[in-house]
Amino acid sequence: MNKHSIAGEIYVLKIGGSVLTDKGEIRKARKATIKRISKEIVQAAPKNLILVHGAGSFGHPQAKVYLKSRELKDALITHEAVKELNWLVVSALTDCGQKAIPLHPLSAVVSKGGKIVYKLNDQIELALKQGIIPVLHGDIILDDEDGFCIVSGDQLVVYAAKEFKASRVGLGTDVDGVFDDSGVVIRNLTLQDVEKQNIKGSEHVDVTGGMKEKVELLVQLAARYKIRAVLFNAAEESNVVKFLRGDDDLVGTVVTG
Ligand SMILES: Nc1ncnc2c1ncn2[C@@H]1O[C@H](COP(=O)(O)OP(=O)(O)OP(=O)(O)O)[C@@H](O)[C@H]1O
Ligand SMILES: [Mg+2]
Repeated sequence: MNKHSIAGEIYVLKIGGSVLTDKGEIRKARKATIKRISKEIVQAAPKNLILVHGAGSFGHPQAKVYLKSRELKDALITHEAVKELNWLVVSALTDCGQKAIPLHPLSAVVSKGGKIVYKLNDQIELALKQGIIPVLHGDIILDDEDGFCIVSGDQLVVYAAKEFKASRVGLGTDVDGVFDDSGVVIRNLTLQDVEKQNIKGSEHVDVTGGMKEKVELLVQLAARYKIRAVLFNAAEESNVVKFLRGDDDLVGTVVTG
């Protein structure tokens, strides 16, 4: 793990594409939700926040086309679409008076045979030191063997959390947490639960594995790095503030090792 010189605790928050966009459509943003979440971030005023967002309808359907065609133009369409969503998020934050900058993985991250090699530390560190929220997103990145590879917002969360030894990690989606087989939110999820429960991907087009891959990544983060993460419903008002403030009454799934 790299060393950094940021004072104070570091939080990593991902707002899923299921919240910011309508995943049943193509390139349909939920602008009022983006604005509401930006306001909640400003209200909670976290000292060091690394923000990640998913691609939703600005990335998954486009990446699906690329994965079939393997054509450069489809990779570019995917990147351009998710960049558009990223700009909506960054500009909503700046409109609320919050300093924020876009960090596009395509320009900073590569993969080697599908294994992602991250190089985002310096940009994140310098942004945080200046009180700026770096805003990362799921993206399509260059691979040294195989054209392009998809890096998910969920993978970026795990990366940022371990590199910056985050003290609070949250993933907001459009559901209250991880449901067990009878539809009840699992309040505390462990590696054993992941093996036992029949956790599925997503109801929508999701090229990065939906809920299943999310929990698989998070149990590893908890087991290997002792960093726990909470999955909560960011489509519900006030939950982002509750997460950032560490309120006990936030309903969700805590993923532990
Ligand atoms: N056991 C489960 N518990 C909760 N949600 C589940 C479960 N199995 C599948 N899901 C689906 O996972 C979805 C959330 O994952 P999804 O990847 O679609 O959202 P996201 O990560 O917010 O989007 P994006 O990848 O665009 O950021 C929910 O909308 C739900 O349909
Ligand atoms: Mg997803």
